[in-house]
Amino acid sequence: MSSRQGKAVLLNAPNTPAVVEDILVDPPGPNEVLVRIVASGVCHTDLTVKKLEGMGMPFPIVLGHEGAGYVEEVGEGVTHLAPGDPVVLAYRAPCEQCPACRRGDPRHCYVALRPKQRIHRKRDGALCSQVLRCGTFSTYTVVHAKAAIKMPSDMPLDKACLIACGVVTGVGATFNTTPVFAGSRVAVIGCGGVGLSVIQGAKLAHARQIIAVDINPTKLEWARKFGATHTVNARETDPVAAVRSLTEDGYDGGVEFAFEATGIPSCIEQAVRMLAYGGTATTIGLPAATDSVTLNLGDMATGVYWNKAALRVCHAGDTLPSHDFPLLAQLYLQKQLNLDDMVTRIIGLEDVEDAFHEMETGNVIRSVIKLPA
Ligand SMILES: NC(=O)c1ccc[n+]([C@@H]2O[C@H](COP(=O)([O-])OP(=O)(O)OC[C@H]3O[C@@H](n4cnc5c(N)ncnc54)[C@H](O)[C@@H]3O)[C@@H](O)[C@H]2O)c1
Ligand SMILES: [Zn+2]
Ligand SMILES: [Zn+2]
Repeated sequence: MSSRQGKAVLLNAPNTPAVVEDILVDPPGPNEVLVRIVASGVCHTDLTVKKLEGMGMPFPIVLGHEGAGYVEEVGEGVTHLAPGDPVVLAYRAPCEQCPACRRGDPRHCYVALRPKQRIHRKRDGALCSQVLRCGTFSTYTVVHAKAAIKMPSDMPLDKACLIACGVVTGVGATFNTTPVFAGSRVAVIGCGGVGLSVIQGAKLAHARQIIAVDINPTKLEWARKFGATHTVNARETDPVAAVRSLTEDGYDGGVEFAFEATGIPSCIEQAVRMLAYGGTATTIGLPAATDSVTLNLGDMATGVYWNKAALRVCHAGDTLPSHDFPLLAQLYLQKQLNLDDMVTRIIGLEDVEDAFHEMETGNVIRSVIKLPA
């Protein structure tokens, strides 16, 4: 097959807006698939890639990594997928070769399978990088065949796309990274697409208390809808004191699990300080290279040593996409996972900059780009 022409949202250079440009997409190579994108959520990480001047990727860069679509063409050696299959794209399909994969622990794979670069900017033929090996703000993309996860035929793709990042990260944080046990107390700092998915995961895990922390009252209202039992506005009150007070148990309160989903270092410190004895804080937000946190060790009440606190890092919910994506789709189809209310706005490719603006200033869980069929 020859190249296909399409459109994609490109970052062409540092400190420039994301723009829609014509692209040419080469056919998939061995063990790759070419996917026609139907829908893609706009995650905060795409905005961070822009703000951090490409995060080390060569320009031009196709934005987007929360996508779903239909397989259009399969490369040599691909037998598990066929043209027409509905798929969600995974950015952490395990490599099968690193030390973690070799010891049978693919959820902790060091690297992820990636395709060769196949997308060209049409006007000069420049080869494009793809955010997190995906590049889903595009009419077409090429991914490693094992990164395209088949969906049930009754799964709507404009909801399924959210599974690819925000939902698998948030729910996976509570299932895989730091398994939440029934009856536990959970705090979630930051109630965007990721944090609300943490709340849904904690609810599915039968947490006793789920305390949502945000600075936006609308997000806190939504958090209740997704399963929060209590809310704390961190702009009005100290979230550590508030969480300790809400969980008072005769031992100064605190939660067994605190999840940070903001990307703000001071929120990680708060997550650690709001733990009950032996609790675990999990950081999910994407840091800048210069970000750091200071953790007190010796304070008798909240210091990491005396409180026996743990800090974990969550990458995409430590997902094993071939297992987790169909499971999350099934939970949605069984009405146990709410994806419908996570889609706040449907937009077009040309609206990505506006979606970034809304993400920072408006009341949006997810803007979802829908592409014409
Ligand atoms: N680790 C991973 O695998 C992974 C995956 C997806 C996203 N991320 C990162 O997770 C973070 C969240 O992503 P998102 O798409 O949900 O973002 P989002 O912008 O939709 O949500 C962020 C939320 O944090 C709230 N917030 C801001 N400042 C706060 C504060 N001081 N205290 C409490 N809440 C505050 C905002 O009001 C908003 O509701 C981002 O940093 C993103 O890059 C990481
Ligand atoms: Zn993301
Ligand atoms: Zn691996």
